[in-house]
Amino acid sequence: MILVLLGPPGSGKGTQAKKLATEHKWVQLSTGDMLRAAIVSGTPLGKQAKALMDKGQLVPDSVVIDLIQERVQAPDCKQGFVLDGFPRTVAQAEALDKLLVEKTKKVSRAVLFDIADEELVRRLGGRRTCLKCGSMYHLEHLQPKVSGVCDVCGSALVQRDDDNEATIRKRLAVYHETTSPVAEYYRKQKKLRTVDATRPAEEVTRAVSLALTK
Ligand code: AP5
Repeated sequence: MILVLLGPPGSGKGTQAKKLATEHKWVQLSTGDMLRAAIVSGTPLGKQAKALMDKGQLVPDSVVIDLIQERVQAPDCKQGFVLDGFPRTVAQAEALDKLLVEKTKKVSRAVLFDIADEELVRRLGGRRTCLKCGSMYHLEHLQPKVSGVCDVCGSALVQRDDDNEATIRKRLAVYHETTSPVAEYYRKQKKLRTVDATRPAEEVTRAVSLALTK
């Protein structure tokens, strides 16, 4: 299975990608996580990405396509993978199809997370993330046992630099203008399924699993 999760920032792509990866033994490929790892390592790529991410803008297509191209070659991707946050432009979707064709593979499904912008502003404002293990929490919906501390690895929880209201609204605008057409790209290929992402996380998981079967 090669699954693409599409949806606006905060719609739950990362939450569901982690669940699916664990359940099906697929690899979760998140370009956002890869870029944040480059920022933490202080690489030139990380510095370039941070300036754009802090403003809510997209990193150039060529950069993320190179990251994905290299990562999907790894042996652990042979069983299947779930893409979370990639492709985000039609050019990225076309590049993905091209690199998969070379391996006689193709995208199996694209699942679109449908949710209104105002709910996303609330969700992202309350998100807290563990920079060490990537676990995610929410100040209202998913609190850690000890405030500010990751349940899984005990590290401090932080608010992402791009999770302030002004940057969230910019990310939403970029999504509607640049990423929405990617849904149309997969609709034309008859691979798109849509789920109601306003439901509780467990219900969204069930809806995604159902979407993979039809
Ligand atoms: P990225 O890291 O991909 O961020 P994003 O797409 O903006 O998505 P998020 O991680 O913010 O949200 P999500 O949908 O994963 O939701 P989550 O599960 O965390 O990208 C960051 C930046 O990197 C981009 O702006 C861009 O600059 C750059 N970038 C990355 N990929 C790129 C690409 N391909 N091309 C160019 N640039 C790229 O959930 C959010 C919160 O809601 C959490 O607190 C969670 O606990 C809670 N929650 C989740 N599900 C539910 C639910 N059902 N009910 C209630 N709460 C829920």
